[in-house]
Amino acid sequence: MDLRLNDKVAMVTGAASGIGLACAELLADSGAKVALVDYNPETLAEVTRKGEARGTAKGYQLDVTDVPRIAPTVSRIREELGEIDILVCSAGVNVRQAAHEVTEKDWDTVNNVNIKGLFFCNQAVAIQSMIPRKSGAIVNIASLMGLVGGPKRTAYCASKGAVVQVTRAEAVDWAPYNIRINAVAPTWVLTNLTRELLKDPVASDYIIGNTPLRRLATVEDVAAAVCFLASDEASMITGTILPVDGGWTAQ
Ligand SMILES: NC(=O)c1ccc[n+]([C@@H]2O[C@H](COP(=O)([O-])OP(=O)(O)OC[C@H]3O[C@@H](n4cnc5c(N)ncnc54)[C@H](O)[C@@H]3O)[C@@H](O)[C@H]2O)c1
Repeated sequence: MDLRLNDKVAMVTGAASGIGLACAELLADSGAKVALVDYNPETLAEVTRKGEARGTAKGYQLDVTDVPRIAPTVSRIREELGEIDILVCSAGVNVRQAAHEVTEKDWDTVNNVNIKGLFFCNQAVAIQSMIPRKSGAIVNIASLMGLVGGPKRTAYCASKGAVVQVTRAEAVDWAPYNIRINAVAPTWVLTNLTRELLKDPVASDYIIGNTPLRRLATVEDVAAAVCFLASDEASMITGTILPVDGGWTAQ
C-alpha cells in the first residue's frame, strides 16, 4: 500500500509493542517520521534503537496517565521532528474481571490509560499542531469491546465505548479545523495484552469459531486500516469507527 506519507510527522502512543508498534513501522515504511511514545523504558529503548538506525523514528518516554506531562512531550516532538500531522493512540491496558469484581482502583487503571490518557493526547496534539495549521488526522484504537459486550471486561468495555464516542464528538468539534478523527475497532489480536487469554484453547476456539472469517486479526491487519485512515486517501472520512473484526459485528 503506497500511502505517500513522505514529509509527514506521526506520533504513536503505545508504540513499543503490538498494534502500536505495527502502526509505527507501517507509517515509517510509508515515508513518515515517527515519534514512538510509550511508558515502558526497556521495550521503548529496543524499538527506538531499530527506528533510529533506519533514520525514521525517535523515542519519547511518556506515561499517558500523567496528563501534565503530555503537552510538554508534544512540544518536544514538534521541536525535534516537526509539526505533527498524524496521531495514533494505541496505548492501552486491560484488567480482566467480572462486573461484580471490579474495584475502583482497577476501574481507574483501565480508564485512565484507555480513555483519559487518549483524550488528552488527542487534545494536546490538536491544540499545538493541528488546529493552528487547519490540518491533521487522528486514529484512536478502540476495540470490538467498544461495540459489543464481552465476559470479564466491564471496565475495558466502558473505556473502549468511551473511545468510540470521544472519536465521534471530536470529529464534529474539529471538522471546522480540517482535522479528521477516526477509530478502528479490532477483534482479538495476539499481542502481549492477550497472550495469556489466547493460550486457553477454550477462549481461542470460542473467538475463532464465532468469527465469520475464522481467524484472529493480525497486528498488520490493524495497522493497514489505521494507516489508511491516517492517510490523505481517507480525506472525506471522519468520525467513523472501522471494525477490523473478520465479520464479528456483521452477524
Ligand atoms: N490485542 C487485542 O486483541 C486488541 C483488540 C482490540 C483493541 N486492542 C487495543 O489495541 C491497543 C494496543 O494493544 P496491544 O494489543 O498492542 O497491546 P500491547 O500490550 O502489546 O501494547 C500496548 C502498549 O501500550 C503501552 N502502554 C500501556 N500503558 C501505557 C501508558 N500509561 N502510557 C504509555 N504507554 C502505555 C505498553 O507499554 C505497550 O507498549 C490497546 O488500546 C488495546 O486496548 C487490542
